[in-house]
Amino acid sequence: MRVLVLHGPNLNLLGEREPEIYGRATLEEIDARIAERGRPLGAEVRSFQSNHEGALVDRLHAERRWAEGVLFNPAALTHYAWSLRDAVAAVGIPCVEVHLSDVSRREVWRQVSVLAEVRVALCAGRGVDSYLEGLELLVELVPGPERDAEGTVALLLERLAHPGDRDVLARELAQILCRAGRFRWVGLYDVGQSEVEVRGWAGPAPPAHPRFRRGDGLTGAAIATGKPVVVQDVRGDPRHLPTLDGTRAEAIFPLLTPAGVIGTVDIESGNAQAFTPARLRWIERCVSALAPFWGARSG
Ligand code: DQA
Repeated sequence: MRVLVLHGPNLNLLGEREPEIYGRATLEEIDARIAERGRPLGAEVRSFQSNHEGALVDRLHAERRWAEGVLFNPAALTHYAWSLRDAVAAVGIPCVEVHLSDVSRREVWRQVSVLAEVRVALCAGRGVDSYLEGLELLVELVPGPERDAEGTVALLLERLAHPGDRDVLARELAQILCRAGRFRWVGLYDVGQSEVEVRGWAGPAPPAHPRFRRGDGLTGAAIATGKPVVVQDVRGDPRHLPTLDGTRAEAIFPLLTPAGVIGTVDIESGNAQAFTPARLRWIERCVSALAPFWGARSG
């Protein structure tokens, strides 16, 4: 994929500028690390820095047919330059907002972002890693399957039409979802009176807990409420019961029937903030199509 990296004012002085806040890496070093991280991911990167709002708008316009994703650190312009918000909305290219520092814990005026409503995600407070995590997230999200939920639903229904062995079916349904949604791991679980048990999964390794108590973990919360539980960064959630190492975002979708929750789908990503609203809508549509797996009607 092709990624445009935009850096706003004063970031040309990184390395010497308030290193206790922004670190010691220069902008050239940061750009080199982004390009290096992009290579194995198949991401071609173009970077641009300016101290001028209009120049950033111009560059975004100029690259709008080339770029498939944007990593944008508008620096101080983040907090008041509304033309940047309009430019991101105008070009309609998925944009991840990036900050080296944790703007949410600094001065109140830094807590406003003009990009809040137009970005797909925010990566902040992790120094150079904010850019690298933002890049990995873009690669996972773009181009997303959101525009083609019905295509994935058709694949799931086709597989459900010839069920055969239930464990094999569970595994193959999980594979379809995992591949189409570009997730790291997907598992289908049966929910019993007292226990939850994995039926099939797709991903790099089996779940650490193939069977656990009904009230445990994020799954327990989804069963108790009958509603999806979405955690954008599991590191901050004490309910998280690790399925496999390296997961950063996790979502549990319960299959609610008049008899209560009879199944769950666990979806995991290696990237924090991986569940954008469009992606969640896509997942909900796919999960509702999975109802026959548990012998239930959706809706
Ligand atoms: C920044 C945070 C902004 O508030 C500040 O004005 C910057 C850098 C960051 O990367 O942490 O210049 O965007």
